[in-house]
Amino acid sequence: RTRSHSSASTVGTPFDKLGVIGLGLMGHGIVQVAATASSSSSSSSSSNVHSEVIAYESNASYLDGGRDRILSSVERLVSRGKLTSNDAESLLSKITYTTDRDALDDADLIIEAIVEDVELKNDLFKDLGSRCKSSAIFASNTSSLCVTNMAIASGRPDKFVGIHFFNPVQLMRLVEVVRTEYTDPTVFEDVMGWVGHIGKVGVSCRDTPGFIVNRLLVPNLMQAMSLVERGDASIGDVDLSMQLGAGHPMGPLHLADYIGLDTCSFIVEGWVKDFPNDASFYVPAILKQKVERNELGRKTGKGFYHWDGDKRGDPV
Ligand code: NAI
Repeated sequence: RTRSHSSASTVGTPFDKLGVIGLGLMGHGIVQVAATASSSSSSSSSSNVHSEVIAYESNASYLDGGRDRILSSVERLVSRGKLTSNDAESLLSKITYTTDRDALDDADLIIEAIVEDVELKNDLFKDLGSRCKSSAIFASNTSSLCVTNMAIASGRPDKFVGIHFFNPVQLMRLVEVVRTEYTDPTVFEDVMGWVGHIGKVGVSCRDTPGFIVNRLLVPNLMQAMSLVERGDASIGDVDLSMQLGAGHPMGPLHLADYIGLDTCSFIVEGWVKDFPNDASFYVPAILKQKVERNELGRKTGKGFYHWDGDKRGDPV
């Protein structure tokens, strides 16, 4: 079931103030997309999705980095003629940058996009639960962690969902909205509505490892690695097969290098630990070896392929 509330609706969302915590790869994109939908001429019928988007980082250097990411992304759109200077100014004026957690106390919806660390996230939500107004809804952008645990840590599990964006947030239309057994159905509907208001397509999923996309994608990457590890097929042929035979834009080993082999391994290791009896969750030996050798894919210049910056070379 897919839904989008963006075009037909004439009412705003119930989330006047949005808070985004962590302005890394994902968080800066979430801020940008939400601010774009909230700035006057660029939003369709539903103007002012938010009166303010609070962009929070835990320290000043992270904050500067996040601001720079947003500014350069917006400037790129302007220079390519995809955004007028006025619209750029208007969207940027919606964003308040801060390292002061007090600024989040009266936010209506808070999305967390900090590092994938369960302790850090639980501590953060515990603190937010004690300081934010009681009607505020909390969300995590986690890819692989249990949403229910964070919901419980927050002390307000009925007002907690997963809002899982895809990279790059500015371009990828899908958002998985994750509900736990505690999520209030009204909260869930409001969040689904909000996803439509910011121009994305929301799908609904229960709190299950990997939700929909990664649950199907990540085991597929592991299977591709196993094929290579057993010598059944070469790296190049596995990727070519999935491109030409299954119509995928990128083969699984290319994709794994792109994501980062450490990230792939980290995700599956967490699932293996939590769900030891699920046969689709396992870490192939070839992946462990590459991570141990710091052959992490694109970012270290070598993984299943050689890399020259963003340019993929020959298979290893
Ligand atoms: P990132 O490393 O680019 O950004 C992480 C952010 O966490 C940074 O803004 C950093 O300032 C902040 N941070 C670091 N240490 C911190 C600490 N001790 N306390 C508070 N904040 C801290 O990470 P990315 O890729 O943006 O991931 C963020 C979240 O989004 C993770 O939960 C990840 O699983 C999820 N995600 C990532 C996707 C991806 O393709 N990278 C896709 C979808 C979700």
